[in-house]
Amino acid sequence: MTQTNLFRNRPVAVIGAGVMGIGIVQVALLAGHPVHLYDVREGAAAAAAGQLAATLGKLADKGKLTPEDVAAARGRLSVAASLDELRDAALVIEAIVENLAVKQALLRDLEAIVARDCVLASNTSSLSITAVARGLEAPGRVVGMHFFNPVPLMRLVEVVSGLATEPAVADAIARLAADWGKTAVHAKSTPGFIVNRIARPFYAETLALLQEQAATPAVLDACVRGAGFRMGPCELMDLIGHDTNFAVTQSVYEANFYDKRYQPSLVQREMVDGGLLGRKSGRGFYRYPDGDAKASDGEAGTTAMPVVPLVLHGGDAVADLLASRLVASGMGFTRESVREGVATSLRIGGGRLMLTDGRCAAERSNELGVADLALFDWPVGPAAAGSTTPVVPLAWTAAAQASAEFSAQAAEVLRALGWLPQRLADVPGLVVARTIAMLVNEASDAVEQGVCDAAGADAAMTLGVNYPAGPFAWLAQWGAPAVARLLDALDASCRGERYRVSPRLRRAMWATSPTSASTALPTAR
Ligand code: NAI
Repeated sequence: MTQTNLFRNRPVAVIGAGVMGIGIVQVALLAGHPVHLYDVREGAAAAAAGQLAATLGKLADKGKLTPEDVAAARGRLSVAASLDELRDAALVIEAIVENLAVKQALLRDLEAIVARDCVLASNTSSLSITAVARGLEAPGRVVGMHFFNPVPLMRLVEVVSGLATEPAVADAIARLAADWGKTAVHAKSTPGFIVNRIARPFYAETLALLQEQAATPAVLDACVRGAGFRMGPCELMDLIGHDTNFAVTQSVYEANFYDKRYQPSLVQREMVDGGLLGRKSGRGFYRYPDGDAKASDGEAGTTAMPVVPLVLHGGDAVADLLASRLVASGMGFTRESVREGVATSLRIGGGRLMLTDGRCAAERSNELGVADLALFDWPVGPAAAGSTTPVVPLAWTAAAQASAEFSAQAAEVLRALGWLPQRLADVPGLVVARTIAMLVNEASDAVEQGVCDAAGADAAMTLGVNYPAGPFAWLAQWGAPAVARLLDALDASCRGERYRVSPRLRRAMWATSPTSASTALPTAR
């Protein structure tokens, strides 16, 4: 508990008794506030109060609340018949329809009713807080208080400041959110705030890979789950609904004046146009109710170990991981050129199995003059070192020049090292490396533009969308030179604005290790 919660036990009004409003009421009631709930739709607030009573009852049945807690919380809730009944509120949180004009009109009406020191918070997920506050007598008291669904369970609250928001108001809301058991992260009012902005590449890169015919949705999902994400992008888009996900992408794209970095996907547009909206329509990337996302977690293979000499090169964390897995697998190998800056690779006889650096296998094969070349994805997921059972899906690809025999051998080696190899077409950056590099890049730009700080970005992505790590934690693990190099390679293969490196990431690259960074830039462009 913080000492200076201005709102402690004071009345809170929630406007909008929909999905979000009900969740916010529950949290505020259980934090001890008297709560007024108002909805313009006849009977909606009363119905929501009934729904909430049932939820609190279930929590009591599970032993999470006492019957006294439930009775007290229910006693603190009042259903308001008009906005006038909200006049004693210290804080109003609006969770009404996502429409700027309607929200502006509501706040104007409220200004004439509530006290001058009452804070007006908006749960908007996409509108500018500056715009929401426009035209008010006291726009300084308007702040974004962006909860995540389901509100009682999700710990993140983005506290969004518009141009007029008084810093003291944002700070007071952040303290209140902390008192409500949430983690508050400050954000500047920019399109998508933190989470909805930084998360765009999570969907966009998989959609781009589908357009590039890299693999099936099930394969891409398996690889991303292999990196520790709870759901792959395709199954998550099916859950969110493609109409909703497409609308958010489109609004971030438009709000950024059609910056190509945020360009929506034709693949998704086609699905929306065809009514393949995901779970809610019975079909998206997968068919429901069963779903078939798990169909391709493995690639059939033998357990035969290659009997060719194995030589490991490289001195980074991935080379160390390969070394430990080689030891655990019992395959004999030698280790050479154990230095940072040497490409991480495993020589398999005369061929090479290399960590992706963002270039295609065909290009690297051509550059090295080695036909038998395969690439594997950034292995960032749960460690399976020492395991003899392949458990973690990992994307890989082979150059067009590679022989079928070598490709089969490369897959066998990955399997023997504890991965479930998932073959992709020869696309640049494969799937996990490409997606995480773009998440890091977007987060770097968000920090560069003052939207949030690095710690806020990490907290937002781990708490708001349950990522297994924050973008800056990945950056620390992977290193700015490698991330920037991968993005440069993607940019080279897809000229345009999409993969441009954030100035902040570029500076981090030079600051990390000027010598190795300069030698790490791709030589063949
Ligand atoms: P919802 O459609 O479930 O509920 C909105 C409620 O507001 C409805 O009951 C409607 O009758 C009421 N309403 C509409 N206009 C009103 C007015 N002028 N005065 C009083 N009540 C009014 O919507 P949901 O999903 O709860 O979203 C509400 C807000 O929260 C939106 O701004 C949305 O962008 C935001 N949000 C939604 C999230 C989600 O996952 N659904 C996540 C985070 C934010």
